Amino acid sequence: MRRHSSLFALSLTAALVSILACSKAKEPAKEAAKEPAKEAPPEPAKEPPKEAAKDQVEVFSWWTGQGEQEGLDAMIADFKTKNPGIEFVNAAVSGGAGTNAKAILANRLQAGNPPDSYQRHAGLELADDIKAAKVEDLTKLYEAQGWKDKLPKGLLEAITIDGKIYSVPVNIHRANLIWFVPKTLQALGISGPPKTWKEFMAQAKTIKAKGKTALAIGPQWTQKHLLETVLLGELGTDKYTGLWNGKTDWKSAEVTAALDMFKQVLSVSDIKSSAADWQPAADRVIDGTAVYTVMGDWLDGYWGRAKKLGYKTDYDVAPSPGSTGIYDFLSDSFTLPVAAKHRAAAEKWLIECGSVEGQDLFNPQKGSVPARTDADKSKYKDYLATALKDWQDPATKIVGSLAHGVVANNAFGSEIDTALGIFVENRDSAAFAAAVAKAYAATK
Ligand code: GAL
Repeated sequence: MRRHSSLFALSLTAALVSILACSKAKEPAKEAAKEPAKEAPPEPAKEPPKEAAKDQVEVFSWWTGQGEQEGLDAMIADFKTKNPGIEFVNAAVSGGAGTNAKAILANRLQAGNPPDSYQRHAGLELADDIKAAKVEDLTKLYEAQGWKDKLPKGLLEAITIDGKIYSVPVNIHRANLIWFVPKTLQALGISGPPKTWKEFMAQAKTIKAKGKTALAIGPQWTQKHLLETVLLGELGTDKYTGLWNGKTDWKSAEVTAALDMFKQVLSVSDIKSSAADWQPAADRVIDGTAVYTVMGDWLDGYWGRAKKLGYKTDYDVAPSPGSTGIYDFLSDSFTLPVAAKHRAAAEKWLIECGSVEGQDLFNPQKGSVPARTDADKSKYKDYLATALKDWQDPATKIVGSLAHGVVANNAFGSEIDTALGIFVENRDSAAFAAAVAKAYAATK
């Protein structure tokens, strides 16, 4: 078996020694006593003072927005305490779901200029990088850190190819959620969030009659996110999963019916004046112009932590219609790119990501539950306590997210993006289904 270079090279000692040996502050120049001022000879050009080469780690993500940055910051602070000799370079690029970040990252990887570690969703999104040999095998790091039996089996499978593990997951997010303000429902005479999309459409009539929008939505990735939750709610777990493994026929009558439901849901949304990102869409629910938004549980981080709103009093959440008992999961993970410039420091970052402390600092802020199974449950309160319970309940059915990299590789995902852009315009379910079926066959 080929041996890989050690994952635990000691890189910090040298950097620390050279920082401590940093040059002393210079004495102020003594004035020459009484000598008449001479024309100073031109000074030879000075070399800039040599700084002790500080070790650094450049970490790439898309967590810049409210509710996301706080989680990352919490983990960065812990990393800095544990690794005082490493400068943390936060290379986050704004834009929900990484729409902007992923494009920039692709260019950097293409140019052979990777950051030292980058965010990738567990699942087929990561598998693309593994197949393209963009990321290093982390199996030895897993063995050294004892992580293998600290992660759920299914999650480990989503980051493993040919027995090698390629990323370090920090969390589990749930995508299939519908969010609302209890007082808004009360004022409208609505007894609770809809249990099916059909019921949602019935509520939408009441909501429209009262001059409000039923569903706030944002840019295209949020529409894709909505699409996956409607497909899940209408088709159920097995048929939904079949959409991604070829077992469910996209052109079947039931998928067309589910797509028709998606069209209806869009028609009672504010898509014509859609919000710029997921946070401004969520703001419309808080200010009462819209009643619901479908979003992943990073919204709990935004409302509950960043905005300090009260769970159950100021906001509430339920499984998206038709998906009670189902966890449509995604997982943010960090990688070690091939040709990372600060490899040893990147490993330190990955150790932070994989640690109980790192995860328990990050996730309560971020609105996600820890990837590790041995995290401190007492840190997860309110919505997150129920999320953790549901995630760990053996009766919960688990499916993977489309919009967040689990079930579609990048080529298939971007074909769906193109088709969805057209579908949202022309609302032709059959044409969309045909385009996606064709794309699946072409990209699998
Ligand atoms: C997802 C990501 C989440 C959250 C969300 C909105 O793709 O996994 O952590 O950041 O986008 O930006």
